[in-house]
Amino acid sequence: MAVSDMYEKSLAAFLKPIAEFLADKSISEIMINGPDEVWIESGGKIFKTSAKFTPEGLDAAARNMAQYVGRVINEERPRLDARLPDGSRIHVVLPPIGRKGTTISIRKFFPGKLTVAQLVDFGSMTKAMARFIDACVATAQNLVVSGGTGSGKTTLLNVVSSLIPNEERILTIEDSAELQLLQDHLVPFESRPADKFGKGAVTMAHLLQSALRLRPDRIIIGEVRGGEAFDLIQSMNTGHSGSMCTVHANTPTDTLRRLESLCLMSAVDLPMVAVRAQVASAIGVIVQCARFHDGSRRITHISEVLPLNEKGDYRTQDIFVYTITGKDENGRFVGYHAPTGILPNFLNQCHAYGFSEMDEAFFDPASYGVPRPKSAGVQAVNTRWISRLEDGKEKEPGKPFDQEKLQVLEKAFVKTLEERDEEPPPFWEKGSGVVPDDSKQEIPRNDSGEPDDQQDEQENEAAAGKDSGSKSKSPRRSLDWMRKSGAKEGKPKSTAAALLARQLERRKSGSAAGSRQARIPGARRPKSLTTDQDEE
Ligand SMILES: Nc1ncnc2c1ncn2[C@@H]1O[C@H](COP(=O)(O)OP(=O)(O)O)[C@@H](O)[C@H]1O
Ligand SMILES: [Mg+2]
Repeated sequence: MAVSDMYEKSLAAFLKPIAEFLADKSISEIMINGPDEVWIESGGKIFKTSAKFTPEGLDAAARNMAQYVGRVINEERPRLDARLPDGSRIHVVLPPIGRKGTTISIRKFFPGKLTVAQLVDFGSMTKAMARFIDACVATAQNLVVSGGTGSGKTTLLNVVSSLIPNEERILTIEDSAELQLLQDHLVPFESRPADKFGKGAVTMAHLLQSALRLRPDRIIIGEVRGGEAFDLIQSMNTGHSGSMCTVHANTPTDTLRRLESLCLMSAVDLPMVAVRAQVASAIGVIVQCARFHDGSRRITHISEVLPLNEKGDYRTQDIFVYTITGKDENGRFVGYHAPTGILPNFLNQCHAYGFSEMDEAFFDPASYGVPRPKSAGVQAVNTRWISRLEDGKEKEPGKPFDQEKLQVLEKAFVKTLEERDEEPPPFWEKGSGVVPDDSKQEIPRNDSGEPDDQQDEQENEAAAGKDSGSKSKSPRRSLDWMRKSGAKEGKPKSTAAALLARQLERRKSGSAAGSRQARIPGARRPKSLTTDQDEE
């Protein structure tokens, strides 16, 4: 038996008290606060369980986890970052630092977790936003995904990086491998802490320096949290555009400030203003995500970073934002995503790269039938508003997209999926708890609790600009295009559904060429994309 198999077996034995949670797909995180207290996260909410360890058993489990990844955990080094054999990420703190005993958190690994189509369907972003992010990636903006702990940064970085064209050479650098890219030309690196003699450490900063010498088209850094920030900003400013990373921060401007202080952490002696200017010019776009109290995760801002103002402060302008309008009867947040009416400065590039649907109406909240979001970032000298909102003031009322334009947009979105060989919904595992089930909160329900399809139809009509009585007054009616794929049963086959049918057909006929997953030997096929239909 291979040594790793041995560890795997013994680890399974040590973790027996939580075996059922490890196996349960609906549980995303397991938190062990000492032997007597185990909590789990399911559907975005946290629950206490009755599972218990013996103190020795839990201690042995922690040491086994360390051995499995060849790291040390002991009196001297009572903290450990590691991964379980299935890829789940763990962090351990031993007693007496962990005052309740051995403290472990297990963030479960879901192969092929989430896709663009799924995030859209869950209401984490809209199709228009997905398209815009696709444009940011295509035009090689340096992009930062930012948010708090567990806000979905890594998940979103995975999704965003799936938009990188397959021809590009991608280098990834992480502390613990979580990214799951499927592109052909991928060079993944993982940093390494020092051994028990304090030797052999390879930091993210080291790896970034190597990466720069390895002819990357794109560099993706899992989470920036140390001195590597400085090297990253340097590389972004010296021609390595299109890089991506995540940063722990709560607003777009905080993200820039956080990057700045991380830069100052590295030994380099540079005046703060110089660092500031470099950060501002390095970062192009910030995608901010947040975890809401109801357990849902959403993109709250897509913001463009502008040059520093005269006083040397950071400035960003929001292109898309999420506005909360209230709570529903189940205490879940209700709100809407909308463009602010501000045009990104790189819009011409977007057009050049084929995102021709991005006209002024694309950035007009009225086109989506929603009110103007209150927050729109700063008003800068060079802020370009859509002409209807010249200088940020409403000159004339806007109107929703017409049917023809909606079709153009739908086609564009399907193109984004198609270029990635991504299958549109509805084949994710519903109610798996990986995502809270509030995803459908925007769909009106009839008394039996079933989605109200009739109303759906009316919404579609309203979205198409037809008069369907009182319903069309709701601000969310024409959001339909932004939210749904239309790949639903019993509806006319949308382009998304047609694409899906084609892909299934291709797979049945045994042609591997159609699927990126199939092209990569040994690549894990995302579970969420295996369909019952396959077997039928
Ligand atoms: N858009 C989303 N909707 C619902 N759940 C999500 C979403 N994005 C991420 N999650 C879940 O939230 C948890 C934390 O996500 P992760 O990306 O690891 O967060 P972070 O990197 O910010 O700490 C994971 O279990 C993930 O499956
Ligand atoms: Mg993360």
